[in-house]
Amino acid sequence: MKNLLSIESLTGDEIRTIVDDAVSLKANRNDFSRQPLAHQCWAMIFAKSSTRTRVSFEVGVRELGGSVMFLSANDIQLGRGEPIKDTARVMGRMLHGAIIRTYAQQDVEDFAEYSGIPTINALTDDEHPCQILADLLTIRERIGGWEGKRIAFFGDGACNMGRSWAWAAARLGFELVVAAPDGYQLDDKFMETLPSEAKVILTANAKDAAEGADVLYTDTWVSMGREDEQAQRRVALQPFQVNENLMSLANEGAIVQHCLPAYREYEITEGLLESNAEAIFQQAENRLHAQKAVLANLAKT
Ligand code: CP
Ligand code: NVA
Repeated sequence: MKNLLSIESLTGDEIRTIVDDAVSLKANRNDFSRQPLAHQCWAMIFAKSSTRTRVSFEVGVRELGGSVMFLSANDIQLGRGEPIKDTARVMGRMLHGAIIRTYAQQDVEDFAEYSGIPTINALTDDEHPCQILADLLTIRERIGGWEGKRIAFFGDGACNMGRSWAWAAARLGFELVVAAPDGYQLDDKFMETLPSEAKVILTANAKDAAEGADVLYTDTWVSMGREDEQAQRRVALQPFQVNENLMSLANEGAIVQHCLPAYREYEITEGLLESNAEAIFQQAENRLHAQKAVLANLAKT
């Protein structure tokens, strides 16, 4: 693996290898003999806000022996219009790797191409691969894995999380149900890009999606960059709130997952979030372990 640009660009085996390694890195967190990033300097270039991704990468690079610099996209010349391909060619000559959070997927792809250094997508409008890898680790820890399981995603199905989940289902073979209203569902153009064998079911009925689910997953209704649509989204997506009623339809032992940040009483009720806080914050912690596995894998190249 040279970069982590999307779940789409990974094979099932690559995903399984990262999750396996994350299990081992988590179990051996205090063993600092493994330092694959020793003498390396990585940059984090962020054009959007972040708590989990920023902290977990800053800690993860350091725990693997490297150093890391955080660059707000607005503070570097990128924010004043310097092209991404020029930024990439400069940074590629100085740094060992880059972790980028931005809007356009193409910008992350271009950075990887022009810099020549390992590049990680830390969230774009299209995908959030690091989150999925942490979620898969959590699903393995809490319900023993994703094989034969039904994962149900509720809310803005067309957002980066919905899209990355669809690719994860395609690569790993589990069943994904996406419950979203018209206008917020994965569209035909996207669905045509998935392999025909992918078990991705689209529905506008939240109850149908929850029935028999092993994981109830949700995300904010208002992704970064969509703030001006907040009012209309809160109306359109309300029937897809993850709440106690939906949970009662899920399988025995089902878990609730939320990539966070959570907006209580919108995409999830306060009660359901708090009664599932252990699994949800375990999921947040797993960002660190999964991303360390990604970094260790990329450092080999
Ligand atoms: N889930 C996630 O990526 O959180 P942050 O936006 O806080 O990094
Ligand atoms: N879909 C959300 C994910 C946040 C981690 C967003 O893009 O803002």
